Amino acid sequence: MSLDSLDMASATRSQSLATSDRLSGPSVPAPAPVLVRGESLDSLVIVGEAGEALTALTSGALGEGYLNSVKLCYLDPPYNTGERFAYYDDRQGSHDWLEALRGNLLKLRPLLAADASVWLHLDDSEQHRARVVLDEVFGREAFVATVIWQKRLTRDNRTAFSSMHDYIHVYAPGGPRAWKKVRNGLADDGAFSNPDNDPRGPWRSAPMTVQAGHATASQFYTVVTPTGTRHEPPAGRCWTFTAERLAQLDRDGRVYWPRGGEGKPRLKRYECESEGLAPFTIWGASEVGDTSVAKKSLMRQFPGHAAFDTPKPVALLERIVQIATDPGDLVLDYYLGSGTTAVASQALGRRWVGVERNADVVEAFVLPRLGATFEDGSHGGYGLARVR
Ligand SMILES: C[S@@+](CC[C@H](N)C(=O)[O-])C[C@H]1O[C@@H](n2cnc3c(N)ncnc32)[C@H](O)[C@@H]1O
Repeated sequence: MSLDSLDMASATRSQSLATSDRLSGPSVPAPAPVLVRGESLDSLVIVGEAGEALTALTSGALGEGYLNSVKLCYLDPPYNTGERFAYYDDRQGSHDWLEALRGNLLKLRPLLAADASVWLHLDDSEQHRARVVLDEVFGREAFVATVIWQKRLTRDNRTAFSSMHDYIHVYAPGGPRAWKKVRNGLADDGAFSNPDNDPRGPWRSAPMTVQAGHATASQFYTVVTPTGTRHEPPAGRCWTFTAERLAQLDRDGRVYWPRGGEGKPRLKRYECESEGLAPFTIWGASEVGDTSVAKKSLMRQFPGHAAFDTPKPVALLERIVQIATDPGDLVLDYYLGSGTTAVASQALGRRWVGVERNADVVEAFVLPRLGATFEDGSHGGYGLARVR
């Protein structure tokens, strides 16, 4: 199925969209979008320039419902490595590259939900300068973390240092504290058990001491265990809770006293109350794959095409989507490449919009990859649009 034949098939629908009064509202001049196929506009592949697609989404030219709605924006732009890849040229003056980044991030802002996060994936070529742009666009207080992703395991002896990682800068316009309340923790498959038949179900215990640095006087006291053993907090540490709070937790059955009631108190953490684990800032290839895993998988799937050089592993995108969104939320990627963000989002039941300027890449990789995902019939369709 070629993009051109889809273009023809949808001429009538495109015209009605183009003449729609949705286009007349905003002051931003919207490029004329062509809706090529629209079984469902829940999810959409847009062939075109990122900036023009963002303007079209903001203006309503591609349908209502995108403003203030994007919960996750994952961006994997050309890094400005100075290389020429099979499907895109990655050579630009640093100033121009940064201006393009800034311009698109500014256009992205009105599309973001209040509790959104933006994940910008880069290498050492521009990441440090891009951080400054992110600070400018979203505010320094919006910075959440930089994730280090182990992108390769093999050594490159041609270089002074063999770089094996990328950076993923995470910003939440609402700020990290507010975002922590909506983001999902990682699955907590730690060993829970229920040796005392606790009615709250399986639990595991955690120490009840913390570093003394920020302690108040009420966190230093002698704990007397159920068997009468006395414990002071270890050197340099204090009890997590005041004596009153410890007594309250104990009455509530939430304290475990090891060694038959002689040991230091430990807090029972219940499986049913677990909010998941805070993600670490270093993600290894063994957990989420590396570039070669992603590339080999695409080459196996598409043996007839020149390899797409820089795909990301589906497992990496699945982790990001899982942390940053819930089912039904909207994910945006305006450097879609081979379509990994769309594939991961679709598999996890999220809505998504992906923008890619190279129609050959969309035709060779994105559409077939999505076709495979949709074939089992359990997912809705997706729309396909061109922005010129
Ligand atoms: C690093 S690749 C993305 C790879 C993708 N994450 C994947 O897993 O396949 C960057 C992609 O952005 C596209 N691109 C570059 N500049 C663009 C722009 N201004 N608008 C839309 N797409 C663009 C390139 O054609 C390329 O396919």
